[in-house]
Amino acid sequence: MAKRVSIINFKGGVGKTTLAFHLGTGLARHPHKKRVLLIDMDHQSSLSVLCLGTDGWRNAINSKRTVDEVFRSFVGQEARPDSKIIINNPMFEKLKKYLLSMKKTDYLRGAYLGMDLVPASLSLDDVEIELTASHHGNAIQSEWNKRTLICRWIEENSIDERYDYIIFDCPPATKIVSQNAIAASHGYLIPVVPEAVMERGTPHLHQMVRTGIDDRLKALALMKEANPRPMHVPDTRLVGVVVTRIQTAPNAHSGYTDDHTQHLRSLKVHWKEKLLQPYIRQGTGLSSALSEGIPAYDLGHTQNIGRRGIHRQFEELTEGIKQRMDEL
Ligand SMILES: Nc1ncnc2c1ncn2[C@@H]1O[C@H](COP(=O)(O)OP(=O)(O)O)[C@@H](O)[C@H]1O
Ligand SMILES: [Mg+2]
Repeated sequence: MAKRVSIINFKGGVGKTTLAFHLGTGLARHPHKKRVLLIDMDHQSSLSVLCLGTDGWRNAINSKRTVDEVFRSFVGQEARPDSKIIINNPMFEKLKKYLLSMKKTDYLRGAYLGMDLVPASLSLDDVEIELTASHHGNAIQSEWNKRTLICRWIEENSIDERYDYIIFDCPPATKIVSQNAIAASHGYLIPVVPEAVMERGTPHLHQMVRTGIDDRLKALALMKEANPRPMHVPDTRLVGVVVTRIQTAPNAHSGYTDDHTQHLRSLKVHWKEKLLQPYIRQGTGLSSALSEGIPAYDLGHTQNIGRRGIHRQFEELTEGIKQRMDEL
Protein backbone atom coordinates (compact mmCIF):
# COMPACT_ATOMS: atom_id res chain seq x y z
CA MET A 1 0.00 0.00 0.00
CA ALA A 2 1.33 3.39 -1.01
CA LYS A 3 1.70 6.22 1.47
CA ARG A 4 -0.15 9.10 -0.13
CA VAL A 5 0.83 12.69 0.59
CA SER A 6 -0.35 16.11 -0.66
CA ILE A 7 1.83 19.19 -0.87
CA ILE A 8 -0.37 22.20 -0.29
CA ASN A 9 -0.41 25.91 0.37
CA PHE A 10 -2.98 28.52 -0.62
CA LYS A 11 -0.12 30.65 -1.96
CA GLY A 12 1.85 30.23 -5.18
CA GLY A 13 5.61 30.56 -5.46
CA VAL A 14 6.38 29.05 -2.04
CA GLY A 15 8.21 26.00 -3.41
CA LYS A 16 5.44 23.38 -3.50
CA THR A 17 6.45 22.06 -6.90
CA THR A 18 10.16 22.25 -6.09
CA LEU A 19 9.49 20.17 -3.00
CA ALA A 20 7.29 17.64 -4.85
CA PHE A 21 10.01 17.24 -7.49
CA HIS A 22 12.83 16.75 -5.00
CA LEU A 23 10.83 14.52 -2.70
CA GLY A 24 9.78 12.33 -5.63
CA THR A 25 13.24 12.10 -7.16
CA GLY A 26 14.83 11.85 -3.70
CA LEU A 27 12.74 8.80 -2.81
CA ALA A 28 13.30 7.18 -6.21
CA ARG A 29 17.09 7.50 -6.20
CA HIS A 30 19.58 5.63 -4.10
CA PRO A 31 19.68 4.79 -1.24
CA HIS A 32 15.87 4.58 -1.06
CA LYS A 33 15.07 3.36 -4.59
CA LYS A 34 11.35 3.53 -3.96
CA ARG A 35 8.51 3.35 -6.46
CA VAL A 36 7.00 6.82 -6.60
CA LEU A 37 4.05 8.29 -8.47
CA LEU A 38 3.94 12.08 -8.78
CA ILE A 39 0.52 13.49 -9.65
CA ASP A 40 0.42 17.06 -10.92
CA MET A 41 -2.84 18.56 -9.67
CA ASP A 42 -2.03 22.15 -10.66
CA HIS A 43 -3.25 23.48 -14.01
CA GLN A 44 -0.07 25.59 -14.19
CA SER A 45 1.63 22.22 -14.82
CA SER A 46 5.04 23.27 -13.47
CA LEU A 47 5.76 19.76 -12.20
CA SER A 48 4.80 18.22 -15.55
CA VAL A 49 7.13 20.58 -17.42
CA LEU A 50 9.93 19.98 -14.89
CA CYS A 51 9.74 16.24 -15.41
CA LEU A 52 8.90 16.03 -19.12
CA GLY A 53 10.23 19.25 -20.65
CA THR A 54 7.88 21.37 -22.76
CA ASP A 55 7.77 18.98 -25.73
CA GLY A 56 7.12 15.91 -23.61
CA TRP A 57 4.39 17.77 -21.76
CA ARG A 58 2.70 18.77 -25.04
CA ASN A 59 2.87 15.18 -26.27
CA ALA A 60 1.21 14.03 -23.06
CA ILE A 61 -1.60 16.56 -23.55
CA ASN A 62 -2.08 15.58 -27.20
CA SER A 63 -2.42 11.95 -26.22
CA LYS A 64 -4.79 12.82 -23.35
CA ARG A 65 -2.44 11.48 -20.73
CA THR A 66 -3.24 14.01 -18.02
CA VAL A 67 -5.04 14.05 -14.69
CA ASP A 68 -7.66 16.29 -16.30
CA GLU A 69 -9.23 13.14 -17.77
CA VAL A 70 -10.07 11.87 -14.28
CA PHE A 71 -12.06 15.02 -13.52
CA ARG A 72 -13.49 15.34 -17.02
CA SER A 73 -15.08 11.90 -16.62
CA PHE A 74 -17.47 13.32 -14.01
CA VAL A 75 -18.29 16.47 -15.95
CA GLY A 76 -19.11 14.65 -19.20
CA GLN A 77 -20.20 11.40 -17.53
CA GLU A 78 -17.66 9.63 -19.72
CA ALA A 79 -15.57 6.55 -19.09
CA ARG A 80 -12.89 7.10 -16.51
CA PRO A 81 -9.30 6.90 -17.77
CA ASP A 82 -7.21 3.86 -16.91
CA SER A 83 -3.59 3.76 -15.82
CA LYS A 84 -2.41 4.77 -19.31
CA ILE A 85 -2.43 8.38 -18.15
CA ILE A 86 0.70 7.51 -16.18
CA ILE A 87 3.98 8.40 -17.91
CA ASN A 88 6.60 5.87 -16.90
CA ASN A 89 10.02 7.13 -15.91
CA PRO A 90 9.54 10.61 -17.41
CA MET A 91 13.02 11.82 -16.44
CA PHE A 92 15.23 9.20 -18.02
CA GLU A 93 15.90 10.43 -21.56
CA LYS A 94 16.45 14.02 -20.48
CA LEU A 95 18.84 13.02 -17.73
CA LYS A 96 20.74 10.60 -19.90
CA LYS A 97 21.36 13.32 -22.46
CA TYR A 98 22.35 15.82 -19.82
CA LEU A 99 24.67 13.50 -17.95
CA LEU A 100 26.30 12.19 -21.12
CA SER A 101 26.99 15.77 -22.16
CA MET A 102 28.60 16.36 -18.76
CA LYS A 103 30.50 13.03 -18.96
CA LYS A 104 28.87 12.22 -15.62
CA THR A 105 27.24 8.92 -16.51
CA ASP A 106 28.08 7.50 -13.08
CA TYR A 107 25.26 9.72 -11.86
CA LEU A 108 22.84 7.65 -13.91
CA ARG A 109 22.49 5.25 -11.01
CA GLY A 110 20.20 7.95 -9.65
CA ALA A 111 18.18 8.04 -12.84
CA TYR A 112 14.91 7.79 -10.97
CA LEU A 113 13.84 4.58 -12.66
CA GLY A 114 11.08 4.00 -10.15
CA MET A 115 9.45 7.42 -10.54
CA ASP A 116 6.37 7.94 -12.72
CA LEU A 117 4.18 10.95 -13.39
CA VAL A 118 0.59 11.83 -14.13
CA PRO A 119 0.86 15.24 -15.81
CA ALA A 120 -1.65 18.11 -15.73
CA SER A 121 -2.67 20.54 -18.46
CA LEU A 122 -3.65 24.21 -18.47
CA SER A 123 -7.27 23.16 -19.10
CA LEU A 124 -7.49 21.64 -15.64
CA ASP A 125 -8.58 25.06 -14.41
CA ASP A 126 -11.59 25.05 -16.77
CA VAL A 127 -12.36 21.45 -15.91
CA GLU A 128 -12.45 22.41 -12.22
CA ILE A 129 -14.92 25.22 -12.90
CA GLU A 130 -17.14 22.81 -14.82
CA LEU A 131 -16.75 20.20 -12.10
CA THR A 132 -17.97 22.65 -9.47
CA ALA A 133 -21.04 23.46 -11.58
CA SER A 134 -21.86 19.84 -12.58
CA HIS A 135 -24.38 17.72 -10.69
CA HIS A 136 -25.12 14.07 -11.28
CA GLY A 137 -27.32 11.98 -9.01
CA ASN A 138 -28.76 13.44 -5.84
CA ALA A 139 -26.99 16.32 -4.11
CA ILE A 140 -25.11 14.14 -1.61
CA GLN A 141 -23.97 11.62 -4.20
CA SER A 142 -22.89 14.40 -6.49
CA GLU A 143 -20.84 16.25 -3.87
CA TRP A 144 -19.26 13.03 -2.65
CA ASN A 145 -18.51 11.59 -6.09
CA LYS A 146 -16.88 14.73 -7.42
CA ARG A 147 -14.56 14.89 -4.40
CA THR A 148 -13.53 11.25 -4.57
CA LEU A 149 -12.64 10.95 -8.25
CA ILE A 150 -8.96 10.49 -7.51
CA CYS A 151 -9.76 7.88 -4.82
CA ARG A 152 -11.82 6.06 -7.40
CA TRP A 153 -9.16 6.21 -10.13
CA ILE A 154 -6.58 4.78 -7.69
CA GLU A 155 -8.99 2.01 -6.66
CA GLU A 156 -10.14 1.03 -10.13
CA ASN A 157 -6.59 0.76 -11.46
CA SER A 158 -4.92 -0.75 -8.36
CA ILE A 159 -2.47 2.16 -8.44
CA ASP A 160 -1.91 1.85 -4.74
CA GLU A 161 -0.26 -1.55 -5.11
CA ARG A 162 2.19 -0.35 -7.72
CA TYR A 163 3.88 2.36 -5.66
CA ASP A 164 5.45 2.96 -2.27
CA TYR A 165 4.57 6.67 -2.32
CA ILE A 166 2.06 8.79 -4.20
CA ILE A 167 2.72 12.53 -4.05
CA PHE A 168 0.17 15.15 -5.12
CA ASP A 169 1.48 18.57 -6.14
CA CYS A 170 -1.55 20.78 -5.45
CA PRO A 171 -2.55 24.17 -6.87
CA PRO A 172 -2.51 27.25 -4.62
CA ALA A 173 -6.17 26.76 -3.66
CA THR A 174 -8.29 24.47 -1.55
CA LYS A 175 -11.04 23.95 -4.13
CA ILE A 176 -12.33 20.64 -5.51
CA VAL A 177 -9.13 19.46 -7.21
CA SER A 178 -7.13 19.91 -3.99
CA GLN A 179 -9.99 18.37 -2.01
CA ASN A 180 -9.66 15.26 -4.18
CA ALA A 181 -5.97 15.05 -3.28
CA ILE A 182 -6.70 15.53 0.44
CA ALA A 183 -9.48 12.92 0.34
CA ALA A 184 -6.96 10.34 -0.92
CA SER A 185 -3.98 11.44 1.21
CA HIS A 186 -2.80 10.02 4.52
CA GLY A 187 -0.86 13.19 5.17
CA TYR A 188 0.14 16.59 3.86
CA LEU A 189 3.15 18.85 3.79
CA ILE A 190 3.01 22.65 3.88
CA PRO A 191 5.97 24.48 2.35
CA VAL A 192 6.38 28.02 3.73
CA VAL A 193 8.63 30.99 3.07
CA PRO A 194 9.34 32.67 6.44
CA GLU A 195 7.22 35.78 5.87
CA ALA A 196 4.42 37.50 7.77
CA VAL A 197 1.68 36.31 5.44
CA MET A 198 2.78 32.71 5.90
CA GLU A 199 2.95 33.03 9.67
CA ARG A 200 -0.73 33.96 9.77
CA GLY A 201 -1.84 31.82 6.84
CA THR A 202 -0.35 28.45 7.74
CA PRO A 203 -2.41 27.85 10.93
CA HIS A 204 -5.47 28.88 8.93
CA LEU A 205 -4.64 26.31 6.24
CA HIS A 206 -4.12 23.63 8.89
CA GLN A 207 -7.56 24.38 10.31
CA MET A 208 -9.07 24.48 6.84
CA VAL A 209 -7.87 20.96 6.03
CA ARG A 210 -9.41 19.65 9.24
CA THR A 211 -12.75 21.41 9.33
CA GLY A 212 -13.27 22.72 5.81
CA ILE A 213 -12.20 19.59 3.94
CA ASP A 214 -11.85 16.47 6.11
CA ASP A 215 -14.91 17.06 8.32
CA ARG A 216 -17.10 17.81 5.33
CA LEU A 217 -15.91 14.68 3.55
CA LYS A 218 -16.51 12.59 6.67
CA ALA A 219 -20.05 13.93 6.96
CA LEU A 220 -20.72 13.03 3.31
CA ALA A 221 -19.12 9.58 3.72
CA LEU A 222 -21.52 8.77 6.56
CA MET A 223 -24.61 9.33 4.44
CA LYS A 224 -26.17 6.29 2.86
CA GLU A 225 -26.14 7.86 -0.61
CA ALA A 226 -22.33 8.02 -0.65
CA ASN A 227 -20.47 5.05 -2.15
CA PRO A 228 -17.88 3.78 0.31
CA ARG A 229 -14.41 4.52 -1.01
CA PRO A 230 -11.56 2.39 0.35
CA MET A 231 -9.01 5.03 -0.65
CA HIS A 232 -10.75 7.80 1.30
CA VAL A 233 -8.65 8.72 4.33
CA PRO A 234 -10.92 10.42 6.89
CA ASP A 235 -8.18 12.18 8.88
CA THR A 236 -5.36 13.64 6.84
CA ARG A 237 -2.45 14.31 9.13
CA LEU A 238 0.05 17.13 8.94
CA VAL A 239 3.41 15.52 8.13
CA GLY A 240 5.27 18.77 8.59
CA VAL A 241 5.92 22.36 7.63
CA VAL A 242 8.89 22.77 5.29
CA VAL A 243 10.79 26.05 5.29
CA THR A 244 11.77 26.98 1.74
CA ARG A 245 13.46 29.91 0.02
CA ILE A 246 14.91 31.19 3.28
CA GLN A 247 17.27 34.09 2.63
CA THR A 248 20.78 33.76 3.95
CA ALA A 249 22.89 36.65 5.30
CA PRO A 250 26.46 35.42 5.89
CA ASN A 251 27.26 38.17 8.40
CA ALA A 252 24.12 37.76 10.49
CA HIS A 253 24.33 35.81 13.74
CA SER A 254 21.57 33.40 12.66
CA GLY A 255 22.93 33.11 9.12
CA TYR A 256 19.61 34.42 7.76
CA THR A 257 18.27 37.92 7.08
CA ASP A 258 16.71 39.71 10.08
CA ASP A 259 13.26 39.48 8.61
CA HIS A 260 13.45 35.76 7.90
CA THR A 261 15.08 35.10 11.29
CA GLN A 262 12.17 36.78 13.04
CA HIS A 263 9.51 34.88 11.13
CA LEU A 264 11.41 31.62 11.47
CA ARG A 265 11.37 32.11 15.26
CA SER A 266 7.57 32.50 15.26
CA LEU A 267 7.16 29.46 13.01
CA LYS A 268 9.28 27.41 15.44
CA VAL A 269 7.17 28.51 18.41
CA HIS A 270 3.94 27.64 16.64
CA TRP A 271 4.85 24.40 14.84
CA LYS A 272 7.43 22.93 17.23
CA GLU A 273 8.44 19.43 16.06
CA LYS A 274 6.27 19.80 12.97
CA LEU A 275 8.75 22.35 11.59
CA LEU A 276 11.05 20.17 9.50
CA GLN A 277 14.80 20.56 9.07
CA PRO A 278 16.90 21.38 7.18
CA TYR A 279 15.54 24.64 5.77
CA ILE A 280 15.87 25.05 2.03
CA ARG A 281 17.73 28.21 1.14
CA GLN A 282 16.92 30.67 -1.59
CA GLY A 283 19.52 30.36 -4.33
CA THR A 284 19.91 31.08 -8.01
CA GLY A 285 21.57 27.66 -8.46
CA LEU A 286 18.30 25.95 -7.69
CA SER A 287 16.15 28.11 -9.92
CA SER A 288 18.48 27.61 -12.89
CA ALA A 289 18.66 23.85 -12.23
CA LEU A 290 14.88 23.80 -12.23
CA SER A 291 14.70 25.66 -15.52
CA GLU A 292 16.60 22.68 -17.00
CA GLY A 293 14.49 20.13 -15.13
CA ILE A 294 17.51 18.63 -13.39
CA PRO A 295 17.17 17.74 -9.69
CA ALA A 296 19.71 19.27 -7.30
CA TYR A 297 20.95 15.72 -6.58
CA ASP A 298 22.61 15.58 -10.00
CA LEU A 299 24.28 18.95 -9.60
CA GLY A 300 26.48 18.28 -6.60
CA HIS A 301 29.50 18.94 -8.80
CA THR A 302 28.44 22.53 -9.59
CA GLN A 303 29.38 25.69 -7.76
CA ASN A 304 25.88 27.00 -7.09
CA ILE A 305 24.37 23.74 -5.85
CA GLY A 306 27.34 21.71 -4.65
CA ARG A 307 29.29 24.42 -2.84
CA ARG A 308 26.14 25.61 -1.11
CA GLY A 309 25.15 22.07 -0.19
CA ILE A 310 21.64 22.32 -1.66
CA HIS A 311 21.71 18.71 -2.89
CA ARG A 312 22.57 17.55 0.64
CA GLN A 313 19.78 19.67 2.13
CA PHE A 314 17.25 17.92 -0.09
CA GLU A 315 18.72 14.51 0.72
CA GLU A 316 18.37 15.14 4.44
CA LEU A 317 14.93 16.63 4.07
CA THR A 318 13.77 13.63 2.00
CA GLU A 319 15.10 11.25 4.65
CA GLY A 320 13.25 13.12 7.43
CA ILE A 321 10.00 13.34 5.48
CA LYS A 322 10.24 9.66 4.51
CA GLN A 323 10.48 8.64 8.17
CA ARG A 324 7.38 10.67 9.01
CA MET A 325 5.45 9.42 5.99
CA ASP A 326 6.24 5.83 6.93
CA GLU A 327 4.61 6.46 10.31
CA LEU A 328 1.34 7.67 8.79
N1 LIG B 1 15.04 27.51 -2.82
C1 LIG B 1 14.84 28.18 -3.96
N2 LIG B 1 15.75 29.08 -4.41
C2 LIG B 1 15.54 29.77 -5.55
N3 LIG B 1 14.47 29.66 -6.31
C3 LIG B 1 13.51 28.79 -5.92
C4 LIG B 1 13.64 28.02 -4.73
N4 LIG B 1 12.53 27.24 -4.60
C5 LIG B 1 11.76 27.52 -5.65
N5 LIG B 1 12.33 28.46 -6.46
C6 LIG B 1 11.79 29.04 -7.69
O1 LIG B 1 10.62 29.77 -7.34
C7 LIG B 1 9.60 29.60 -8.29
C8 LIG B 1 8.36 29.04 -7.60
O2 LIG B 1 8.66 27.75 -7.06
P1 LIG B 1 7.60 26.58 -7.14
O3 LIG B 1 8.23 25.39 -6.52
O4 LIG B 1 7.11 26.44 -8.53
O5 LIG B 1 6.46 27.17 -6.20
P2 LIG B 1 4.90 26.78 -6.10
O6 LIG B 1 4.73 25.40 -6.60
O7 LIG B 1 4.59 26.91 -4.65
O8 LIG B 1 4.17 27.81 -6.91
C9 LIG B 1 10.16 28.67 -9.35
O9 LIG B 1 10.58 29.45 -10.42
C10 LIG B 1 11.34 27.99 -8.69
O10 LIG B 1 12.35 27.72 -9.62
MG1 LIG C 1 3.48 24.62 -8.08
